[in-house]
Amino acid sequence: MAYNPFSLEGKTILVTGASSGIGRGIAAECSKMGAKMVINGRNVERLNETMSMLEGEGHVAIAADLSKQEDIDSLVAQCPAINGVVHSAGIPKICGVKHIERSLLEEIVNVNEIAPILLTSGLLKKKKLQKKSSIIFIASISGVCVANVGEAPYSTTKGGLAGFTKGAAYELAAQGTRVNTICPALVPTSILGLSNEMFSEQQLKDTMYGRYPLKRVGTPEDIANGAIYLLSDASSWVTGINLIIDGGYTLV
Ligand SMILES: NC(=O)c1ccc[n+]([C@@H]2O[C@H](COP(=O)([O-])OP(=O)(O)OC[C@H]3O[C@@H](n4cnc5c(N)ncnc54)[C@H](OP(=O)(O)O)[C@@H]3O)[C@@H](O)[C@H]2O)c1
Repeated sequence: MAYNPFSLEGKTILVTGASSGIGRGIAAECSKMGAKMVINGRNVERLNETMSMLEGEGHVAIAADLSKQEDIDSLVAQCPAINGVVHSAGIPKICGVKHIERSLLEEIVNVNEIAPILLTSGLLKKKKLQKKSSIIFIASISGVCVANVGEAPYSTTKGGLAGFTKGAAYELAAQGTRVNTICPALVPTSILGLSNEMFSEQQLKDTMYGRYPLKRVGTPEDIANGAIYLLSDASSWVTGINLIIDGGYTLV
């Protein structure tokens, strides 16, 4: 077989948020590159749908609500030895700064920031991450590169992940573990309340495409290709970065 530095053959990868959108796309594309997948989400039916989209054998689905510590612990306990983890689970909260309340902030920080950090910590503590593992946080251009009205709480969590990435990448480099963040721009998924049924191709073109120098919004596969790079041996000298995948959005 021809040498392919982007191959994921022989690697087992955990993807959270794999029951939908970007996480589902990452799981599907990684399986095409030869990885065995451990997929997580809350919704068992949609998690099983993702399972049916995976190529190859030996994949595992583990349902867990990552807002709860006992579920994080249970996911860690059930997780086989892995070579990489992609933290894609996340929620949006649109709220103006003067209307932010403790409950809203605690909810979004808990799911988007605390959960992936504690899951990472748990996987390390229980030695589930093998030598030369790759850890990826799905952050956003929001909070790392750009801002939008009403997105300050969401941006807080994504900027926090980018900060954690730097610290963890430096600390874990000693054991050969790499830690990186992917910052996508707009990918129409259920997180935005957008779907192809709700927005026609023409509506997307009229309202959004013009803001993207490459003239389209993203797809889960666009983000998955970045994840494949960061999970594969092709990126073995890459750690602590924010990989911006945005169709050129942050150029202007
Ligand atoms: N779409 C975009 O434009 C965009 C842009 C930048 C960054 N992002 C980031 O990309 C990531 C994926 O978003 P998406 O667009 O794919 O959204 P999505 O389609 O709504 O998927 C979100 C996923 O997160 C999971 N999730 C949410 N809360 C959870 C919890 N408490 N425990 C376990 N899983 C939970 C959901 O699982 P269940 O449905 O099973 O509950 C679902 O699989 C998020 O971190 C988001 O912030 C998205």
